[in-house]
Amino acid sequence: MNNWNPSSWRDFPIKQQPTYTDLDKLKKVESELSSYPPLIFAGEAERLKSQLADVVEGKAFLLQGGDCAESFNAFNANNIKDLFKVMMQMAVVLTFSGGCPVVKVGRIAGQFAKPRSADFEEINGISFPSYRGDIINSMGFNEKDRAPKAKRLLKAYNQSAATLNLLRAFARGGMADLHQVNAWNLDFVKDNALGEKYDQLANKITETMKFMESCGITSENTTQLRETILYTSHEALLLNYEEALTRQDSLSGKWYDCSAHMLWIGDRTRELDGAHLEYFRGINNPIGCKVGPSMKEDELIKLIDALNPENEAGRLNLIVRMGHDKVSDIFPSLLKRVESEGKKVVWSCDPMHGNVEKTPNGYKTRDFANILSEVKQFFQIHKAQGSVAGGIHLEMTGQNVTECTGSTSAAITAEGLSSRYHTQCDPRLNADQALELAFMIAETLKEARA
Ligand code: PEP
Ligand code: CO
Repeated sequence: MNNWNPSSWRDFPIKQQPTYTDLDKLKKVESELSSYPPLIFAGEAERLKSQLADVVEGKAFLLQGGDCAESFNAFNANNIKDLFKVMMQMAVVLTFSGGCPVVKVGRIAGQFAKPRSADFEEINGISFPSYRGDIINSMGFNEKDRAPKAKRLLKAYNQSAATLNLLRAFARGGMADLHQVNAWNLDFVKDNALGEKYDQLANKITETMKFMESCGITSENTTQLRETILYTSHEALLLNYEEALTRQDSLSGKWYDCSAHMLWIGDRTRELDGAHLEYFRGINNPIGCKVGPSMKEDELIKLIDALNPENEAGRLNLIVRMGHDKVSDIFPSLLKRVESEGKKVVWSCDPMHGNVEKTPNGYKTRDFANILSEVKQFFQIHKAQGSVAGGIHLEMTGQNVTECTGSTSAAITAEGLSSRYHTQCDPRLNADQALELAFMIAETLKEARA
């Protein structure tokens, strides 16, 4: 790897970083982080890469989801458990109804740093630095809370480690056992039509499990029935944090960002000559890059060549986030160009970030109908070109929040948003809405892959 090292990004122009005032403290924190244990290890990242290679070929489907931004305050076992359960439910719907194995990746255990449209926020003539995520500053609108603090990097690391620890326990300690398929249904989903639809599917699976058990295939003797893997991912925005967790694998000599299994580059920091591309080209994790409406064909080809020069399947996930009103205009020619050049990428659809709107009463929201529409168009465009719609990228939670409007099961109105609007940043699908989307995608997948 030419002239690359974990800190070579520091010689390139960089966007969306905080301005720390105490640089000595920052240096100390970075050096402390560099001595901490890695959160993941190389073999896991490679395993995810090989599963994503199956996604490229249409042999598996990628489900990536979680908070827009994790929060220090909302950090507790229930939130983690409920997200885990919804992801398991969605995966089971996609696997059973859609007929496709699912690669599960959480926006979790490190999803803290947020790009913002403005450096400052102004309210009634007073202005403070924008909130950039709990790893950087705090939400309160005052000077003290909005000042970036280096020690938050350590807290984010510790929260990520504890989160990952619990996820690993859930994945291997019994919670993911297919015999639990009925127990994944969350209380507030149970009592509506969607909950019933899920129950019916769960009952079918339970019947199948009983049959398999009588044939001698049980959780005790079959790991696949008992365990799962939920990989972790986040936007690697804050490169000093990522640098501190970048480690060289002792077996292969290759570099990995050990802060998460998969990392992605945001739509606002993907310049070809910028620091983020420089950092990402040197790490060997599976990586993603957001592809928004301003992306040009030549630019996208250059970006793919820079990030995946060996054209390795499973290395690069292009996360398309155009908006329901733009995707059919912009995406088809980009897709055609990339496919015609034989680039092996995972195409996934982020139907969240192009569909943000503001309600008259000032809430940032997304309408479920627009989210659904973008996903449907994404699948149709792939179908028309004979390419593979590989996955979905969602901002979602297992909690019964009211942040996105619409959906048949949840029927949230613009006026109803205020009742349980808890997000740190962008509006998330609640468990109902996420499950409903999964049923829709399962139908589409079944058709596409029949
Ligand atoms: C995000 O995924 O939270 C995000 C900021 O997305 P994008 O870079 O696509 O705007
Ligand atoms: Co977001």
